[in-house]
Amino acid sequence: MDQQHPVTKYIEDAQKQGMSHEQIVRELTAAGWQVEQILEAVMKHVVPVPVPGAATPKTSAENIISVSSINKSYDGKTKALDNVSLQVKRGSITGLLGPNGAGKTTLVRILTTLLSPTSGQATVAGFDVVHQAQQLRSAIGLAGQYAAVDAILTGRENLEMVGRLYHLNKEQAKARAAELLKQFGLEDAADRQAATYSGGMRRRLDLAASLIMKPQILFLDEPTTGLDPRSRFDMWNVIRELVEGGTTVLLTTQYLEEADQLADYIFVIDHGKIIAQGTADQLKKQVGGDVLELHLTDHHAAATVAESIKQFGDEPPQANITSGIITMPTSKGAHVLVDVVRELDNQNIHLNDVMLRRPSLDDVFMKLTGHNAEDANK
Ligand SMILES: Nc1ncnc2c1ncn2[C@@H]1O[C@H](COP(=O)(O)OP(=O)(O)OP(=O)(O)O)[C@@H](O)[C@H]1O
Ligand SMILES: [Mg+2]
Repeated sequence: MDQQHPVTKYIEDAQKQGMSHEQIVRELTAAGWQVEQILEAVMKHVVPVPVPGAATPKTSAENIISVSSINKSYDGKTKALDNVSLQVKRGSITGLLGPNGAGKTTLVRILTTLLSPTSGQATVAGFDVVHQAQQLRSAIGLAGQYAAVDAILTGRENLEMVGRLYHLNKEQAKARAAELLKQFGLEDAADRQAATYSGGMRRRLDLAASLIMKPQILFLDEPTTGLDPRSRFDMWNVIRELVEGGTTVLLTTQYLEEADQLADYIFVIDHGKIIAQGTADQLKKQVGGDVLELHLTDHHAAATVAESIKQFGDEPPQANITSGIITMPTSKGAHVLVDVVRELDNQNIHLNDVMLRRPSLDDVFMKLTGHNAEDANK
């Protein structure tokens, strides 16, 4: 074998350490390598790896991801993941819903071979996450929590680069990049530097990059965090289209609405534990009945007001003094509205709004954990 090019040596070592292709490209360009030099090195020196789709699935027909009693501790003490077991059905959108620090990214990193579990087993597309990491990687795509696009390159160059790193030849990489730019509505911006892209466009480019090799399974770690409502909506549609095309999606989110909108099945995770699972409807049924929701004019009164209306609910009310909103599960029907409004009127408490509504996933989360899913970690 001829002398190994320093770039290919770096790439091989970085791959062994589990770095993603996007990270590798970023590191190399940051170190001053020109894109052309990297491509040339890759073309000439890297031993071909399995071609797209070559990883034959060995899973059961049903479950494409299977996680069994996974534990992960970063420092030997605190458990980022605590005995997590779950299954993901082929062709589904499965949601992993939980607040900051719940362990979502940790699980995604283990399932995409970027991190080893402390104990437990998991298979993805039939491959063991620890012992068959290389084969596993050819079956999956990952769009991480922070978009990993190279800002100096144009959108098209980013995609062609990732294609080349996956050993597509020049024509294949060009063709696949063009296809994806079209699919993600990035054609007009294709030849602009990614630095000029909006957050939503970067996210889409990052997602496109993770799809270069048409993975069977796509991992999306908080795909819409930080996006405006319009871009979030667009992203939801893109994800739905992918699943219609046969891709299985595992996505993490801290937005209950996102899980509600997208996921066929939801695992709720908090402090490293799966605390509930089911379809959005099944989870909402756990709350039962209706939810009374009050919006106070004086936000600071929320705690005292909550205390004074608890006899009307099935469970203690939850008061949020920042928003001045009180929620309380009740199965007493519509006349609870009259009772509560009369009571508060007697106390001279002013309301901006009052309603009786069906439970939301927010209520489910609150019931299960005693705190909001979107609350920052305490
Ligand atoms: N490299 C690390 N070293 C030490 N602790 C870590 C490391 N990465 C994560 N943790 C801890 O593990 C726990 C789970 O973190 P993780 O990033 O998986 O949460 P998350 O659900 O993805 O949160 P977020 O919604 O904020 O992204 C947290 O307590 C976090 O502080
Ligand atoms: Mg995370």
